[in-house]
Amino acid sequence: MFTATTLSGNKSEQYAQLLEQALALMYGERDRIANAANLAALVYHALPGLNWVGFYFYDGEELVVGPFQGLPACVRIALDRGVCGAAARTRTTQRVEDVHAFPGHIACDAASRSELVVPLVTQNGTLLGVFDLDSPQPARFDADDQAGLEAIASAFLQTQTVS
Ligand code: SME
Repeated sequence: MFTATTLSGNKSEQYAQLLEQALALMYGERDRIANAANLAALVYHALPGLNWVGFYFYDGEELVVGPFQGLPACVRIALDRGVCGAAARTRTTQRVEDVHAFPGHIACDAASRSELVVPLVTQNGTLLGVFDLDSPQPARFDADDQAGLEAIASAFLQTQTVS
């Protein structure tokens, strides 16, 4: 049984604990859906102020929704659309303080006000998809959140690297 440990200390200490929990959940497991599902649940329940956490996977043409926590979401996102599309297309993390000011933002949940999307690119340069977090609070994500969540995305990518 998974026992959630309350995160403690400063923000970077909390993200170090969250990364440990993520690594423990994925230990020895390579299944993409299993690891994505557990990460979405872990992060959604561990961090305050989130209304959607999950994955979109790239099918070679578009992003297709994968495991997530939150309200049902749009199924397919073209790479030229929304914050998720921008992260996938530019292969850089998109940290958006006010989604209403982001051209082309796709409102899956009208409550969302800020968003962080981390692209998932393997070491050999293959785009797997994106890791997407939404919050009803404006400017919910700062640089510490970005670094902590990029580390978790990177741990997920490690499980998808063929060795
Ligand atoms: N807001 C995203 C769409 C995905 S949902 O938030 C789950 C975007 O603009 O890409």
